[in-house]
Amino acid sequence: MAKTCAVAALIATIFCFSSLLNLAQATSETFFVEGKVYCDTCRVQFETKISQPLADSKVRLECRKREGGELTYSFDGTTNSTGTYRLPVDGDHEEEICEVVALKSSRADCSDLMAGYERARITLTKKNGIASIARYPNPLGFMIKEALPNCLEIIAEMGLIPLDL
Ligand SMILES: *[C@@H]1O[C@H](CO)[C@@H](O)[C@H](O)[C@H]1NC(C)=O
Repeated sequence: MAKTCAVAALIATIFCFSSLLNLAQATSETFFVEGKVYCDTCRVQFETKISQPLADSKVRLECRKREGGELTYSFDGTTNSTGTYRLPVDGDHEEEICEVVALKSSRADCSDLMAGYERARITLTKKNGIASIARYPNPLGFMIKEALPNCLEIIAEMGLIPLDL
């Protein structure tokens, strides 16, 4: 009997520790924000199929208090070869405005700002019913200095301008 109790206690302890461990992991990354930065090769301020991923570009996640605008969270990251970044988020940010900002393009020939598209808002709270810890803001982009020659064709294909233009 005593032996059974000891074993049971041991198992209980292991379970207890492992759930504590899970908790610790969960709190260090409440959410993660994953998105991409692209080069708008057509200067149309949206993604086309000939947009290119912008690798090695710097992005920043910032949360500020809704009232007063005080900075509450900030995390910098860099895009990888697919133009994708992934930023960890600590804590719930319900009463805050959080956004990702593309700070700097890695390409000198593709660094023109698109009005507003270098930043995207993101909701970082579980109190609005989204249970997942993954958050995907809209893609961020910079414009190329000179549009590629086949852009008209690409845009026409998207049905955005008449083909017989
Ligand atoms: C780029 O980063 C994303 C997000 O972390 C990851 O899913 C993907 O596998 C990475 N790609 C490469 C080629 O490293």
